[in-house]
Amino acid sequence: MKPQHIRVSPDRVAAKVVVVGDPARARFIAEHLLEDAELVNEERCFHLYTGFYRGERISVAVHGVGAASSAIVFEELRMLGAKVMVRLGTAGALMPELDIGDMVVATGAAYVHGGTIGSYVPDACMATAPNPLLLTKLYDYAKRIHGRVVLGPVFSSDAFYAEDPEFAKKWFSRGIVAVEMEVATLYALAALRRFDAAAALVISDNLVVPGKEELRHHRELEPYVEKAAKAVLEAL
Ligand code: ADE
Repeated sequence: MKPQHIRVSPDRVAAKVVVVGDPARARFIAEHLLEDAELVNEERCFHLYTGFYRGERISVAVHGVGAASSAIVFEELRMLGAKVMVRLGTAGALMPELDIGDMVVATGAAYVHGGTIGSYVPDACMATAPNPLLLTKLYDYAKRIHGRVVLGPVFSSDAFYAEDPEFAKKWFSRGIVAVEMEVATLYALAALRRFDAAAALVISDNLVVPGKEELRHHRELEPYVEKAAKAVLEAL
């Protein structure tokens, strides 16, 4: 099938792609960290830039928020020839020790059975894990470039505003370090469509520390995101 949302020819997409939720983050990476970056898709606000990082051809693609939106983008990037995708996103911390700006490198992603991944695999739960070699590289660069990095599994939520007062305690007791909304979909599709994936997340809020529950604005997170983006680009 031909991509229905990212309406570009395959030669405009690099084999290695940084995938992000926020169009402002994609623009920041394209303008500050890539060379000769060109905006090649704007359709549906799934902005896609292709340029170079230290001579390596790299694309940066916006996947929007949540499983359904991001699955469309991961599928279409794969149809267009992408072989590696690394998500650079934000996450809410469930561990009290995680501070705003810290990094989580996602060793796995839990999800509630059903939803988008359940539409692909209705009879079982997927092993939503990253490519281990890519993950190791990413973790090494993250430690070197960013410094404050935790390795651990995340929970990919389908509902940002779900009201469960026990949410943070429950998922932390299950070994989960942070919550976000797209990594499980990325890892499930990486397995189903045979591409390599990993994810680096910058902590934008902390659900268990009073005063840190609100998402920080992307401008405030920029210095941390820049370091995380450099680690992702070096790993790629
Ligand atoms: N992304 C960043 N913070 C989040 C949160 N608290 N819940 C879900 N996704 C997030």
